[in-house]
Amino acid sequence: MRLATRATQVTPSATIGLTKKAAALRAEGVDLIAFTAGEPNFDTPEAIKAAAIQAIQAGDTKYVPKGGAALKEAIAAWTNRTRGTSYAPAQVLVSCGAKHSISNAALALLEEGDEAILPAPYWLTYPETVKLAGATPVAVDASPAQGFVPDPDDIRAALTDRTRMIILNSPSNPTGAVYPAEVIHAIADIAREADLWVLTDEIYDELVYEGSEFVSILSAGEDMVERCIVINGASKTYAMTGWRIGWTLGPAPVIKAMGALQSHLTSDPTSFCQTATVAAFEGAQEEVKAMRAAFQRRRGVMMEAMRSLDKAVTPLPGGAFYVFPDVSAYIHDKGFSGSLEMAEWLLEHAKVVVVPGEPFGNDSCIRLSFAVSDENIERGVERIAQALA
Ligand SMILES: Cc1ncc(COP(=O)(O)O)c(C=O)c1O
Repeated sequence: MRLATRATQVTPSATIGLTKKAAALRAEGVDLIAFTAGEPNFDTPEAIKAAAIQAIQAGDTKYVPKGGAALKEAIAAWTNRTRGTSYAPAQVLVSCGAKHSISNAALALLEEGDEAILPAPYWLTYPETVKLAGATPVAVDASPAQGFVPDPDDIRAALTDRTRMIILNSPSNPTGAVYPAEVIHAIADIAREADLWVLTDEIYDELVYEGSEFVSILSAGEDMVERCIVINGASKTYAMTGWRIGWTLGPAPVIKAMGALQSHLTSDPTSFCQTATVAAFEGAQEEVKAMRAAFQRRRGVMMEAMRSLDKAVTPLPGGAFYVFPDVSAYIHDKGFSGSLEMAEWLLEHAKVVVVPGEPFGNDSCIRLSFAVSDENIERGVERIAQALA
């Protein structure tokens, strides 16, 4: 069977086998503890749900009127308030989740022969999206010793005359790293000097904990709005992963081009989900605060539990809800081929599901989510420690 080359170049999920095995064990009644969650384990706040129900009952169930003006205004206002910018609603595009925003941006700005720099570890969707646009992802490694924060000199060394974009994600999935202001500003300088787009995925900006401070690259100078493609969404901040609302802010011509692509591929996202997201901006800030506090506490529970894995090196995540320990000592001791084999072994011997680091660009690490109950964090890490002992 002949498939289009672009479909064959996308790497299928490295963890499909693991997921299937975990599902089969669960079906057999095996008590598994999963650290795989990529979403808040809280319900969407009541006021947001009520706004959606009300919208449906009021007939807000058709193609989105006026190009979704109300949500674009709310997004521009919130971004301007938190970033000190002056985006107009015409510089906002609402898409079906931030993932969709990122693919729209890659399709609008990258093409065959272009390169996009990805600080590694990276969210596993970025390289696939870059490839889908015909371009080449170029990873720039940051180690656990660096707290997974890239060295701007390494980024500079990776530049070629084909580099078009840097993709930033602070706070990061999978590491939780929050880049300090000086690194963000040094990256802004590189983008200026090499005339690059900066795709800044700020989806975890509201989940930043004591000791760390979120810095948007927009703060590096007023000129940055001309080269930044700012990605954000409702999924993580408002526990709305299923509603599929993400957005992009950027220069008007880029937003227009992305909107034209989207108009043929999907149209605007679901009408009443947009209305509910306006309600989220207006009335769910207390819930956001409570979720942040809960995650901060769970981070502590996770870091404490990780002490029982004394050969793992676990940088303290400043944000998001993941730890990304370097487990190379265990990989070496047990003779595993890498993080994928270790994850499979842990499923079998510890009855715990973790995500291997390999698809995130670091085969010495595994990812554990702390969007999990305290009890499961403690029991799950204890199982891992016992199995590896
Ligand atoms: C870094 C990062 N960006 C974007 C997304 C996608 O979010 P959405 O649910 O809005 O598509 C995720 C989800 O896991 C993520 O971790």
